[in-house]
Parts: sequence; structure tokens; C-alpha cells
Amino acid sequence: MSAGPWEPADGSAERSTGGSAEGSAVGSTGAAAGHGDVGGITTYNPHLGNRLGIADAPTVTGATIDGQRVQVEFSDERLRTFASQWLRHCCWCPECGNPADGIRFTTVASFPADITPATAQTVDGDLVLVWPDGHRSTYGSDWLAANAYDDEARQRRAEWQPITWRAELSDRFPTVDWADASDGGPGQLGAYRLLRDYGVVRIDHLGTDPQHTEQLANLVGPIHETTVYGRIYDVRAEPVAKLGAKTGMAQAPHIDDAFYYSPPGIDIFHCLSNTDVGGMSTYVDGFAIAESLRAQEPAAFEALTTLPVTHVRRHPGEINMRSRSPLIRLDEFGRPSGVRYFDRALGPPDVPADEVDRLYDAIRAFSDRMASPEFTAAIRVEPGQGVLIDNHRVMHGRTAFDPASGRHIRLCHVPRDEFHGRLRELSLRLDPWSHDQYLPQGS
Ligand SMILES: [Fe+2]
Ligand SMILES: [Zn+2]
Repeated sequence: MSAGPWEPADGSAERSTGGSAEGSAVGSTGAAAGHGDVGGITTYNPHLGNRLGIADAPTVTGATIDGQRVQVEFSDERLRTFASQWLRHCCWCPECGNPADGIRFTTVASFPADITPATAQTVDGDLVLVWPDGHRSTYGSDWLAANAYDDEARQRRAEWQPITWRAELSDRFPTVDWADASDGGPGQLGAYRLLRDYGVVRIDHLGTDPQHTEQLANLVGPIHETTVYGRIYDVRAEPVAKLGAKTGMAQAPHIDDAFYYSPPGIDIFHCLSNTDVGGMSTYVDGFAIAESLRAQEPAAFEALTTLPVTHVRRHPGEINMRSRSPLIRLDEFGRPSGVRYFDRALGPPDVPADEVDRLYDAIRAFSDRMASPEFTAAIRVEPGQGVLIDNHRVMHGRTAFDPASGRHIRLCHVPRDEFHGRLRELSLRLDPWSHDQYLPQGS
């Protein structure tokens, strides 16, 4: 039986019986479980209200209605301005609805475009607005400051930048001990941030029990099953290999399963046994290549960010995968949000006839960098170690090894948004003003 959104995941019957009387307390400070009865069903998710619970937030010290806007003064001496309809729409009181459980009643259809509050006041450091129909909205100062959309606030959320790297990463490979990475606190946040910033992190002292693969995956999210890899995939040489991975051949750096619309997010590699000869793991930062192309080969950069490449994979009689997507995806600010390139899975280019040569030139410019030692970091992953890789940014490969050596790696995948979702929630607890950074949403 799967739990509905109002049911505890563990199936326990314990839930708030607070009902609407408790739940509708105006300006509720949130966190109280159960915010009301909806159609006779008592909701389970705690009502959040317009609050984040950030202790050191500036408080609201004054508010003025100015036409279709409200100017709000804060104790950090900043004036933050909010459109009236933004404020009305974003009221998360029990009557307007809780975004935590998706039971929400106020939408853009609920108020006219020219709505303006009748009064604006400061109450205990919160902003309190009363609307013409008598509806009362209370906004915690931490929620308001965090969600402000003036230039300074948006700049704060845009501060995060990837740390791009080339071959030199081999000598300072981001590494965290499993004991720290799994501490549920600062060590875990540190591991998450290395993966976010470098797109790759090695985990030491995980152990060689095959069960540790899933434990490592669950550090960042649930395992994502695919037709090509199944749930957990054993990478070792086999007499009859369906995929290149299951041979002793070198594997050039690549993005796993680039032929999916949304390729696997985080690669989880777990080394059970390796060989002393060959079998080195190689990594290339797709964002570093994108930077290099933008600076040195703008025509190639332009082609790779606008023309689609086709990736294909067909297992006859079973599945026929095909994706079309730019090789480098840019976000709303023109920054790379994802890279998708698996040379051996590239399908026939399918662009207007006069673009084919331009696309090939651009792919070649990318490929030359990907194959160059200058961009390639190489390490030997030892038994008992794991490596987490952002599969929408960092390409991975390996050097050849003797198929009789017994080299054995276990592999699975976790969606990137599951990882980012856990990162945000842990950040909100440990370092709240970093929790809402814009993160690359992938290829
Ligand atoms: Fe791979
Ligand atoms: Zn409301």
C-alpha cells in the first residue's frame, strides 16, 4: 500500500486531530502538524505558512503601501519592495493553502490584477496585510527576506558557481570519508557540496560488501531503474558482453545513457575489486570544456548550445531510445546547466542541410578537448571506495584492463533532483542562507 500525501510514509495512524479550528489560526507560526480538514480528510503535512524558521533573519520594522506595491523596511536597513498581487498570491495561510501538500486554494484566478492591501502593518517583526475583503496575511520576515526578488536578493541566489577543473584534479581529488558523509550533519553537507561544486566526489572507507552500493546511493536519493542498466549493474568483464562496460576495453569518457530525455542524474560507482594494471578511472569536466569553447571557439559554442544532437540506443525487440538535445544546455542566465555527450551513442545528425558541417566542426571541437590529457583527471579507485558523479556535467571513462583480473565495480543511478532536494533541506537546517541557490537543472 502506498501512502497518500496526507499519510505518514511509515503507515502509522498517528496524525493531528487539530482540524480547522486550530489550523485556521491566522498568522499561525507554522510547524503544527495537520492544518485542516479537507473534504473530511485531515491533512497530514505540517502547515508551513510564510516562515522558514531562520533564527538570524532581519525583522520587519516598517511597511508602506505605494500604489500596486508594498515597501517593506527591515532591521538590516534594507528596503525590499513586493508587488501587491505577488503578496496576495503568495499568502500561505491555512485558508489560502499549503504548498507543502499541494492543497492550495488561492491561485491567480482568486484576485484581480490590481489588488492592493487596505492596510500594511508590522506585528512582532512580521509583515501583516489586511486585504479589501478582510482577509489577513502574515509574512514572517525570514520568508520575506529569503523570497525577495529585488536585484540584490536574486544576486544572492545566483551566487553559486561550479568549480571547474582539468587534469590537476587528479592530485586533489575531492574526497570524503564515509563516516563523515553519512553523519546526517556537517560531514554530509560537506560531501553534498563537493558533489555540487566539482560534479564528482570520492567516498573513502565505504567497504566492499555489495550492500554498501545501495547505502551509498541512498545518501543522495532512491535508485533510478532503467532498461539498459536495470537497478544495480555489475561492471566486470564477461565472456559475452552486451555493453562495452562489460569488457576489458578502455572506455572513453562519456555521459551515461545520453539517449534518455532525462539521462541518469548521479552515477554511483562502488569498487569491490580493482586491478594493479590499467583500470584507471578517468573524469572530464563538461563545464570546463564549455568554458573553454565559449572563450576560444565561440562559433562551436554557439552551435553546441543551439543545434540538437541525436543520441540513440536500440536493443532490438526490446527498446529503441532516442533523444534530441543541445550538447551544452544553458540556463536562463546563459550559464551551462548540463552537458550531454556520449560519442558512441551519437545518432545520425538531423539538422538543416546547411548546418551539418557546422555541427560536426563543433562536436569535433568538444571531442578534441574531451580526449585531451589536459582535460582528463585520472585516479585509481580502490576496493571499498565509491565515487559519485554528476552525470549531466562530468564524463567518466576508464583505461583498459585485463578481463581476467577480476576487476568489479557496481553501478547505479539516482535522479539529480533527488540529490538537490536533499541538499536544500540539509542546507536549510545547517546554513539557511545557502539553501535556495539556483542550481543547474541538467541537460
Ligand atoms: Fe558509463
Ligand atoms: Zn491567506
